[in-house]
Amino acid sequence: MAEDFQIHRVASTELHDLRRRVLRNNDPAIDVGDPRDDHEGAEHYAGVANGQVVVCASVYPSASPIHPELVTYQLRYMATDFSVQGRGLGAQVLTAICDSLRARGVQEVWANGRDSALGFYQRLGWQLVEGSEHLSPYTQLPHTVIFNSL
Ligand SMILES: CC(C)(COP(=O)(O)OP(=O)(O)OC[C@H]1O[C@@H](n2cnc3c(N)ncnc32)[C@H](O)[C@@H]1OP(=O)(O)O)[C@@H](O)C(=O)NCCC(=O)NCCS
Repeated sequence: MAEDFQIHRVASTELHDLRRRVLRNNDPAIDVGDPRDDHEGAEHYAGVANGQVVVCASVYPSASPIHPELVTYQLRYMATDFSVQGRGLGAQVLTAICDSLRARGVQEVWANGRDSALGFYQRLGWQLVEGSEHLSPYTQLPHTVIFNSL
């Protein structure tokens, strides 16, 4: 599987199925579009294995709540298909995104990270913001503000 893996920039709609299945309990009633998906600067990434989108992630130009003076993007909708989690594919996609943003002068990426996924981000060098723990307004799941200095 991993040797066929490629990372592409795509339209956000190509990521809706994976967003829904992995991040929204496959609930058909939930709108998995984001109001910022088509805004200037928004970027959507698909990790594709054997023709299937198995990793998704999107980034949006967004002032960082931690370092508002920097050039920053927000990461949202980071997900790996259940069938291929734990194979390093999510890390490949997030690393590629951060490398691309860094090369274009972006200084930091921030996110509201699901507490159940914080270990994933920390392994890639992301830091937790102490005291930022909160429930997501979308899922009601515990989240923490996290950031990665590029
Ligand atoms: C979190 C998620 C995106 C990680 O993607 P993945 O492709 O499974 O992760 P990888 O295999 O690339 O893992 C990279 C490293 O992070 C670790 N890791 C992955 N998920 C982890 C987790 N939930 N907690 C702690 N560590 C984790 C892996 O063990 C691996 O460590 P290693 O380098 O020491 O071997 C994926 O598990 C997922 O989609 N989870 C459900 C949705 C979710 O929570 N998304 C994040 C929303 S903020």
